[in-house]
Amino acid sequence: MDNHTLTITDNRTQKSYEVPISHGTIRAMDLRQIKTGPEDFGLMTYDPAFMNTASCQSAITYLDGDAGILRYRGYPIEQLAEKCTFLEVAYLLLNGELPTSDQLDEWNCRVMRHTMLHENVRKFMDGFHHDAHPMGMLISTVAALSTFYPDVRNIADARCRRKQIVRLIGKMPTLAAFSYRHRLGRPYVYPDPDLSYTQNYMNMLWRKTEPKYAANPVLSRALEVLFILHADHEQNCSTSTMRAVGSSNADPFSTTAAAIAALSGPLHGGANEEVLRMLDEVGSKEHIPAFIEQVKEGKRKLMGFGHRVYKNYDPRARIIKQVAEEVFEVTGRNPRIDIALELEKIALSDEYFIKRKLYPNVDFYSGIIYQAMGFTPDQFTVLFGIPRTVGWLAQWEEMMLDPERKIARPRQIYTGADKRDFVPITLRSVHDRELVGA
Ligand code: CMC
Repeated sequence: MDNHTLTITDNRTQKSYEVPISHGTIRAMDLRQIKTGPEDFGLMTYDPAFMNTASCQSAITYLDGDAGILRYRGYPIEQLAEKCTFLEVAYLLLNGELPTSDQLDEWNCRVMRHTMLHENVRKFMDGFHHDAHPMGMLISTVAALSTFYPDVRNIADARCRRKQIVRLIGKMPTLAAFSYRHRLGRPYVYPDPDLSYTQNYMNMLWRKTEPKYAANPVLSRALEVLFILHADHEQNCSTSTMRAVGSSNADPFSTTAAAIAALSGPLHGGANEEVLRMLDEVGSKEHIPAFIEQVKEGKRKLMGFGHRVYKNYDPRARIIKQVAEEVFEVTGRNPRIDIALELEKIALSDEYFIKRKLYPNVDFYSGIIYQAMGFTPDQFTVLFGIPRTVGWLAQWEEMMLDPERKIARPRQIYTGADKRDFVPITLRSVHDRELVGA
């Protein structure tokens, strides 16, 4: 007898129902048959913030939050971070397999061929204020790019889909670098397809008058590793946004712009910027105990700590800590690392954090490296967005090919007023409005 089922007894009707269990999950639609009568809509689940709801089936990223495991297409993140280039990992995420050397050469060329922007995008960027936040610039320019390519809406065509994917991956560093230079008032540096993905980005950011910018190999490798660590993280807030917006058949540029908007929030990718501000505010090790007290009193959050899924050390934070030391060999030590290490030590031995299983996440140490490399804090989330574009697009394409795909459309529990009759404006009182919370 198949025992992979769940038997539910509805105490309202005394009826029993058997629903299948697959991958430790029951289908919410199987509950719809549970009714008190023919007029009853049927049982739903209520899960604000999707704490316990699988929204899709995915073969891209595996995450075990209790064990602190992260794998892309089955490969442990530690091995990929040590041995791969970012574009190699991008190929893996999008295609399911690591590339051969010929495939990788061809893929590198394809992506780097698409790094150039239309000159009108440059003009579009000129319209931003000198102090515009780079994430706002990124959201809008990525959305604006959808208007430059007439084929962008042809999402049913596999070749066309791939073309948009390569365009987006190629152009993200250029958009990010242009937003950086725009703020500084420096002339834009155009992409150099002879360089690697990260070296080209660094060239566009930091080249001044020298004929050829030579990125420090330790720093460009560090950026490569950071990009690999940020490339995908299954159904997080921005990826879920990507899938939800994409499910309406919106074009991938508009969809990616929506995902970038989700990433910009301080509870998600924006946390790396907040961590730096927090470390600056703490200022020195002596102030840490008082700061921790404020966190425990609920007056503020320890940014870069805690995660919806990881209830163990985030494996990405472990790798980033090592990379930080390598970067400091070149740049000199960023003194904030010592405050961060002490904060981590104190937090991990404190009952408040132990009880809630709060550990450093990917954002806790990344900003310290970025700052040592010369980035300003408002650029940090952009540095998250460039590599995550690969994950968003891999997840978007997987969704497009999913035979179960439908437009994302959750249900609600209505808690508003019952039916009532219209009141003419002359007869309405303040009291009436207060009653309905207007
Ligand atoms: N500092 C202090 N307390 C915290 C923190 C924190 N960083 N994170 C969670 N808690 C507490 C929270 O107050 C709650 O306590 P109580 O049970 O007494 O009410 C408990 O821990 C559970 O937290 P939660 O808010 O229910 O957890 P969540 O899964 O809804 O939120 C989170 C996850 C990442 C939004 C949250 O941990 C947080 O706000 N962290 C700080 C922001 C941050 O670092 N975000 C980056 C996340 S990782 C990369 C990414 O996704 O971009």
